[in-house]
Amino acid sequence: MIYITRKHLKPGMIIAKDVFLYGSNNVSSFLLAKGQVLNSTYINRINYHNLDGAYIENELFSDINLESYIDEKLKAKSLKVISETYYELQASSGKVNANMIKELSSVVNNIVTELLNKEDLTYNLIDFKNYDTYTFQHSLNVAMLSISTGISMQLSESKLNEIGMAAVLHDIGKMLIPIEILNKPEKLTYEEYEIMKEHPMNAVNQLKNMVPYEVLRAIEDHHEKLDGTGYPNRKRDRNISFYAKILAVSDVYDALTSDRPYRKAVFPNEVVEYLMGSVDKHFDYTILNRFLKIIFAYPVGTFVKLSNQKLAVVIKNHTENILRPVVRIINSDGTVGEDIDLLSDPNYMNITIVDMGYDYENYGLIGILKSSMN
Ligand SMILES: [Fe+2]
Repeated sequence: MIYITRKHLKPGMIIAKDVFLYGSNNVSSFLLAKGQVLNSTYINRINYHNLDGAYIENELFSDINLESYIDEKLKAKSLKVISETYYELQASSGKVNANMIKELSSVVNNIVTELLNKEDLTYNLIDFKNYDTYTFQHSLNVAMLSISTGISMQLSESKLNEIGMAAVLHDIGKMLIPIEILNKPEKLTYEEYEIMKEHPMNAVNQLKNMVPYEVLRAIEDHHEKLDGTGYPNRKRDRNISFYAKILAVSDVYDALTSDRPYRKAVFPNEVVEYLMGSVDKHFDYTILNRFLKIIFAYPVGTFVKLSNQKLAVVIKNHTENILRPVVRIINSDGTVGEDIDLLSDPNYMNITIVDMGYDYENYGLIGILKSSMN
């Protein structure tokens, strides 16, 4: 399979990985199933829901197989409980009932167990984001990535559960922020931003006595930065909760790779560059280092442009160096060439990946797109 961005999707292409949409009624609804042949109706639906793209079958890349990061049923159940808890907070103007918290913690428990038993924790995919339910999906993604970071730091299971709990609840305070501010496409005014900055403390005030102290601290500190420029308390490095430092990395990664009202999603390679550039100012060095072994700058199945002007598709990633994967060269006639390991092939030491390859005018890409059509 290969990842094709929305504007290149054409009738006749075959969906290679289920596309789920989570409706605002809290029930997961299927959009497209693996094996489905795209037609113009489906493409319109993809456009309507603002999906960034889809994984598509292609014989030349039949050796690329991607699985969901966690079981889809567990994912759907988690999103349901997360959204119910968030709505409950909103409806009761701030009172979350203890039962919800209990259910949420059992969901987090299941995620922790599943991730602890997972052989490979690398997050090698571009995930679909559904704009309508952004906050809930974002909370779940932050939980998965933060727990995985914690596992790679060999934290105990009870700590992983606390991190997971803080992650699924970290933005619950946003439910008390007016929707016009949350979804405003333009830059927030000073006053609006001040209101937005209340969301960590909103959550802390409502969740007091309902979750462990360290979970509250993590929620309170998730927007603090090491150099003291964060909010709400402008805390510096050693005063910031350890869990919050883990959440902060996953939070920024997932937020940047999602479409938001005020900007388009950023590709993972650009996010990696941003994260690396913000180390020690915003993020903790050790934590970021662990995180960068879980995610990849160029997920498997994506098109990349090389510095020798050739186009290629990423076949395999190396955790030792997330910028130099194994790639399969695409010839200008749309056939595929050899596989090159950018990490170990001495003939390619001087070749770098310069960008994602989707906007690159290249006959090879057109050829591959054609060969993806039924
Ligand atoms: Fe937040």
